[in-house]
Amino acid sequence: MSTAVFPGSFDPVTTGHVDLIRRASRMFDRLVVGVLVNSAKQPLFSKEERVAMLREITVDQDNIEVSSFEGLLVDFVKEQHADAIVRGLRTPGDFEYELPLAQANHKLSVQADTIFLASAPEYSYISSSAVRELLRYQADISGYVPETVLRYMREHGVVSN
Ligand code: PNS
Repeated sequence: MSTAVFPGSFDPVTTGHVDLIRRASRMFDRLVVGVLVNSAKQPLFSKEERVAMLREITVDQDNIEVSSFEGLLVDFVKEQHADAIVRGLRTPGDFEYELPLAQANHKLSVQADTIFLASAPEYSYISSSAVRELLRYQADISGYVPETVLRYMREHGVVSN
């Protein structure tokens, strides 16, 4: 059985993430979405909230699991008995950032082979950091995040409409 890990901070989950997760889930028997817990950062949403939102978004897909992890990605990959790490590429800048990361992960563990998935062009400008920036100015973020995340934001007073 082939297993891949799709790691990220997902703070918050964007429509671009959801597209990549769905496409990656068709390539592997099992896809584990790994939510990074970075204790050095204060996230917009807690680990539990990010995991809950991702579970709700992927509920219709039996081969997708959502878990959180702390520490090195390669250790999470080993724990999940995964064969691959999937990362999305939106821009050439993403590739410049991702390639050394993939090589560092490969040096740490040969099991952790990274596969890059080109993002669909309609999502190439969407990022979690852009969403956080737009929220700071109360700008419209519809289209940036899935409906589940918008609902969560309304319920938690992050957005008003
Ligand atoms: O969505 P993000 O924030 O771009 O995801 C980054 C992520 C989670 C893939 C990356 O920060 C990561 O793997 N962090 C865990 C620590 C680690 O293993 N670093 C790589 C060794 S150089």
